[in-house]
Amino acid sequence: MIRLAVIGDPVGHSLSPLIHMTWIDALGLEASYESIRVPDGETAAALDDLEQQDFQGLNVTLPHKQAVLAKVTATSAAVKAIGAANTLSRLPGGGWHADNTDAPGLIAALARIGFADFKGKTVLVLGAGGAARAGLFALDRAGADIILLNRTVEKAEQVLTECCSRAHLSGPLDALAEHAGRADFVINTTSAGHGGAHIPLPAGDGRLFFDMTYGNPAAVQLAHARAQGWKTEDGLGMLVGQAAESFSIWFDGVRPDIDIALAACRASL
Ligand code: ATR
Repeated sequence: MIRLAVIGDPVGHSLSPLIHMTWIDALGLEASYESIRVPDGETAAALDDLEQQDFQGLNVTLPHKQAVLAKVTATSAAVKAIGAANTLSRLPGGGWHADNTDAPGLIAALARIGFADFKGKTVLVLGAGGAARAGLFALDRAGADIILLNRTVEKAEQVLTECCSRAHLSGPLDALAEHAGRADFVINTTSAGHGGAHIPLPAGDGRLFFDMTYGNPAAVQLAHARAQGWKTEDGLGMLVGQAAESFSIWFDGVRPDIDIALAACRASL
């Protein structure tokens, strides 16, 4: 029996158990996936405890995505650049290996809706917090030209330096209308929707507005985007995309069915 879990706080509303159990059941695997609440500050003790309990793989969500890095034995190059991990796998000799599957998860979600070749494309990214980092890493490596806009402009400059290997533009969020005309598509990584706010958008003219959030926090922003003529996509595809990458790491390259997990998520929201 392979034991898997997501750790975080809060973790009760996480869709990860639903996604992974959908795949485990569909494939008839001898595995379990649970959600475990681990309070802030207890990351290292929890990783020791879960190793003792013979867990083989973990997803990591807030507030532990950075904190796990101080405890793991090995990290992928993506984790080093992004500065956060979302997937841990037990090493044969003990300890944990850290990966970040948010980056390939975003690329997979974009590919599903027809965005596959990023070279020469200009992507307007809104927000420079934790959620932005994996996206910036992924888009930079995929060859996109990025314009990163953030309320706090200094943070945008710093995040670009840390997560990207090529030079990109940055600026304040209130310059959105000025830059939007050049964008092939827009990715919103801000947490503005969690406070019920939305970022005002200029006309979309049928271009893609991709929001990394889903459910209630995304609803107002996406409704506004559609009213402004943007084609919209919420973050569920990215959530399932990163889960599929984690699943593949834990189960020796098995590629699970994205559609059944997406349908299960949409039905549960
Ligand atoms: P997350 O891990 O979800 O990215 P975070 O690291 O706290 O959370 O980052 C939140 C991001 O949303 C930041 O880019 C933040 O802008 P600042 O860096 O200026 O704080 C942005 N953000 C949050 N609320 C916002 C709002 N009401 N309008 C615009 N941007 C907002």
